Amino acid sequence: MFYVFPDEQQLASHVSEKLYQRIASQPDIKLGLATGSTMEPVYRHLADKIRQQPLNVGALTTFNLDEYIGLAASHPQSYNYYMHQQLFDKILLEDRQCFLPSGTCNNIEQECRQYSDKIRQLGGLDLQLLGIGTNGHIGFNEPGTPFDSRTHVVELSANTIADNSRFFTDKSQMPTKAITMGILDIMEAREILLLATGAHKAEVMARLFHSQPDTGMPASVLKQHPRIKIFLDASAAALIPSSQLTRVE
Ligand code: GLP
Repeated sequence: MFYVFPDEQQLASHVSEKLYQRIASQPDIKLGLATGSTMEPVYRHLADKIRQQPLNVGALTTFNLDEYIGLAASHPQSYNYYMHQQLFDKILLEDRQCFLPSGTCNNIEQECRQYSDKIRQLGGLDLQLLGIGTNGHIGFNEPGTPFDSRTHVVELSANTIADNSRFFTDKSQMPTKAITMGILDIMEAREILLLATGAHKAEVMARLFHSQPDTGMPASVLKQHPRIKIFLDASAAALIPSSQLTRVE
């Protein structure tokens, strides 16, 4: 379940190659996408690869995990803006192909319901990419989130606000609420890849390694998934017994 790569670049290049091959072999694949610094080199490698070896992405559908409440799609710190910058605009995906929860809709309850429903209507996610928060959150499912949750509104924890406010020049602009795909929506994906890189993720990865499925550590639910792989760079894997890691060179 735990795979380790020598460094972040090799991990990113492996994951982007896998995404490329999956899109090539199943052009109408439904991909669940994540944001955050961990994903940036993955999207960069994928966009470069598609530029070098063009691929028809016209039938691809993407669903993002989450969005801040209160940030419009045009806000530079919104996840919608991030996805356009990092991937969608580079590989020329059209808006009709890319689903993100809206952080500025009028009826948030309806938005939540419709987001989970849409994923199921389109046949479910074939592959979900995940990052992880330093408190073990996946998407924005903070510790304590029930494992049977669907898309919902979250009050962000102090830990997450402290971690993510690094992206905001004016820290007071950091939203305190978000909308996130639920844990059950994530677990219904047919395959899941969780990525973690950097020494600041070593502690949470060791906690995940030792944890039984427990709502206090949201990512631990993944241990119940039949097709989960956890990809780490050497720094993030530093506190996991090396005998338990599969090395990928
Ligand atoms: C945010 C996102 C998560 C992501 C996490 C890790 O909180 N909601 O989906 O996994 O950040 O981000 P990073 O990759 O920047 O460490």
